[in-house]
Amino acid sequence: MENLGNYRRTLYCGEFGQAEAGAQVTALGWVNRVRRLGQLCFVTLRDHTGLVQIAFDEGVNAELFAKAETLKSEYIIAVVGKIALRREKDINPDMATGKIEIIADKLSVLSTSIVPPFQVGDENVSENLRLKHRYLDLRRDTLQHNLRLRHTVTNTVRSVLSSEGFIEVETPILANSSPEGARDYLVPSRVHPGKFYALPQSPQVLKQILMVSGIDKYFQIAKCLRDEDLRADRQPEFTQIDIEQSFIDQEDILNLTERLISAVFKQAIGVELPMPFARMKYAEAIERFGLDKPDVRFGLELKDISDIVSGSDFGVFQGALDNGGSVRGINAKGCAKYSRKQIDALIEYVKTYKAKGLAWIQLVGGEIKTTIGKFFDDEKLAEIIAAFDGQDGDLILICADANDIVFDALGNLRLEIARREELTKTNDYAPLWVTDWPLFVWDEDDLRFYAVHHPFTAPKDEDLYLLETNPIAARSKQHDLVINGYEAAGGSIRIHREDMQQKMFEILGFTMEEAYANFSHLMDAFKYGAPPHGGIAIGLDRLVMLLCETANIRDVIAFPKQQDGSCPMMGAPNTVFDKQLEELKITFVKGE
Ligand code: AMO
Ligand code: AMP
Repeated sequence: MENLGNYRRTLYCGEFGQAEAGAQVTALGWVNRVRRLGQLCFVTLRDHTGLVQIAFDEGVNAELFAKAETLKSEYIIAVVGKIALRREKDINPDMATGKIEIIADKLSVLSTSIVPPFQVGDENVSENLRLKHRYLDLRRDTLQHNLRLRHTVTNTVRSVLSSEGFIEVETPILANSSPEGARDYLVPSRVHPGKFYALPQSPQVLKQILMVSGIDKYFQIAKCLRDEDLRADRQPEFTQIDIEQSFIDQEDILNLTERLISAVFKQAIGVELPMPFARMKYAEAIERFGLDKPDVRFGLELKDISDIVSGSDFGVFQGALDNGGSVRGINAKGCAKYSRKQIDALIEYVKTYKAKGLAWIQLVGGEIKTTIGKFFDDEKLAEIIAAFDGQDGDLILICADANDIVFDALGNLRLEIARREELTKTNDYAPLWVTDWPLFVWDEDDLRFYAVHHPFTAPKDEDLYLLETNPIAARSKQHDLVINGYEAAGGSIRIHREDMQQKMFEILGFTMEEAYANFSHLMDAFKYGAPPHGGIAIGLDRLVMLLCETANIRDVIAFPKQQDGSCPMMGAPNTVFDKQLEELKITFVKGE
């Protein structure tokens, strides 16, 4: 192995081109592949910009050729040579540098590699193995692209927000535990045995206190930690573009976010988003799409046929209606082609959303095939079909149940059909504001209200009276930004008065002692002149996922956690020395 010495690259691997033909150049990088063809040896050299081919000719320099033959994948080499144009028949159209190659004059091995557990770029390897050797997987062009794009996004965010007068303020990672969110990650205190810090789920309360502190326009690219079950778009440790501003209303926040998001799309991927973004009230989103984060790039909207089917002998429908539920469905356009097996798979799918089943009507070749034929006469069936605008070739899928189950099941079924029918392109973006959210949700298990967003979200002025009479009907000043069915951002105008915040905690079932025990810093701050304020937090990882057209959040994070929350590379979480536990005065219950 040799040292770098005087080797300095002329260009990155992927940058060499015909313009350099004839020039003597230096290339540095990782050996991607070594191929021997007779007395020629070809090495493809890789860095984050791409590949370039290096050629060694035994006839020209046997010693150099012999050295080239010892190269193995992932060795790091330095090559000095001349750029030559390839003959027409040797041009590789799949390689950006495929018209040229470097004819080597000098070769040094700067670093060797043992045989890697998988070839860089091979995605048909278990994700666990790729995460264990993340440094190898990160050499893959897609991941290099994603991390670089993520940098463009954070750079643009800092530049746009700074130019709008926002300043970045850091808030602590060692914070306090507070109820009402997800589960906290706790950190034991050595100095205060028996006490714990909590890692912040978001800087929410502190950014509000920064408003009371006169910061006026705050932002932070903030790490947030939540001990939740993971999903394809959820990590226990994720990043928010966190924003808060004083003396503003919801309109100001939406406009600012639109300016920011559209600048990001323009800078990162050259896409001009439609301005202003579309808006929809929460109730309409649920009624039409079944979900509070609708993907509005395609139709397949839900229809309510409760009135049409009411009074029938069909127990499944009538039972749902009698219990205060509804009968709704979607018209899967052109899906009459589905086999029994495919329809059964859809029924199984909705069962994962607690629906008991699906009734269906298949319109094929002028005929009607249906599971509900014996309960409805031809006239009623025609009325149902007309309600869905059913045409020949369509498949109507109907669900009867309690409303929340019907909406959830059909909302997700709609997405499943769109996936099966490939109704969307990943590079087509439909941003949508969802507003007018309910302030509270009633929890049947805990028999109490929870805040739909968080307890600091202000009620709509016109619904204030409902806090006394009918809290569940009150709407809030929450705003969520949905892009292609992803919740990309969420925020609200906040409560800024102590009495209103107290009222909120009271409805959430806190005693005043509990409220002050957990949120005294906010409640105290509100006693000293708190400006009206509001904000938003954009999920940076999800935003980058959309820009990178990936459905896997791990593809946009350098060192993500796997499904069970562990990191196979770092080996986190891990056990610690007894001495560390002793210092913290922590003992484990035997057998645990
Ligand atoms: P919220 O909890 O809605 O709001 O979070 C804001 C945005 O963060 C993203 N997000 C996540 N991304 C990846 N993994 C997760 N586990 C995860 N959880 C949330 C989403 C979401 O829209 N303090 C408030 C914001 C505010 O009111 O200003 C908050 O944290 O894209
Ligand atoms: P069953 O009474 O279970 O034999 O169901 C009769 C028909 O109703 C079948 O086509 C079922 O798929 C359908 N079905 C069952 N449960 C529901 C439901 N909750 N909503 C709509 N259709 C259903």
